[in-house]
Amino acid sequence: MRKMLSPEQVARFGRDGFVFPVRVMSALEAKGYRDRLEEHERRTGAPIQSNYRHKVHLLFTWANGLARHPRILDAVEDLLGPDLLCWTSTFFIKEANNPAFVSWHQDSTYWGLDPCDVVTAWVALSDAPLASGPMTFIPGSHRWDQVPHRDTFHQDNLLSRGQEIAIDVDESRAVPVPLKAGEISIHHVRAAHGSGPNTTGDRRIGLAIRYIPPHVRQLKTRDSAMLVRGHDSVGHYDPEPEPKADADAAAIAAHTDAVDRQLKALYSGTDRRTFRA
Ligand code: NI
Repeated sequence: MRKMLSPEQVARFGRDGFVFPVRVMSALEAKGYRDRLEEHERRTGAPIQSNYRHKVHLLFTWANGLARHPRILDAVEDLLGPDLLCWTSTFFIKEANNPAFVSWHQDSTYWGLDPCDVVTAWVALSDAPLASGPMTFIPGSHRWDQVPHRDTFHQDNLLSRGQEIAIDVDESRAVPVPLKAGEISIHHVRAAHGSGPNTTGDRRIGLAIRYIPPHVRQLKTRDSAMLVRGHDSVGHYDPEPEPKADADAAAIAAHTDAVDRQLKALYSGTDRRTFRA
């Protein structure tokens, strides 16, 4: 019994490695989440950045609500089954008329997760039209092996290491994934993707929420994750607590611990110990 995705959408995910658009909430509901993010940014006086862009569902009650959104989980359950952990959530924000981009990459490159039963629900909290630099995929690339990447640490690259695929990508086959606020795309951890700059007058705000079933291992470190549906009878991950209040002391402590573990995995082999802006 499928809960959210049609048989055709499940088939497309299997064939292409991504599926879109899937509407999980109204534009108004999405705007509510955007407002909470931007309230936080007004209070701190800067766009959300560095470590605070990651594992945001441990910091903010509203982001935890997004990671547990029943319609998002229904869609993910249709692909991964009934037991789901949220491994991380990361804001990918492109400011209006800004050169920030994402190079061609496979998410699996530095994550240390095995096997590759990992999907991302990319939640559009603003419209993400073609001119905003939406995610762009190479259909079928989720069936590639892990391909070599090189680190660039390019300042306008939104990825943790500015990593890019070190082989030629046939961009003529690329499929852009424009979304409206309140829609998601879902992609496989091996699907090759990237995105260009935002040339519109509005911010393009996406929250990438990464889900795994409990049998997926973290090979690089003792990691933590949050059970968001079903049961974890395997115990590969230390459980993470839900935030009780936005960025209170307990939430910040839990977030710091979880992010430190993730940094160990993502930046292994480098001397970096904090996320880039
Ligand atoms: Ni990615």
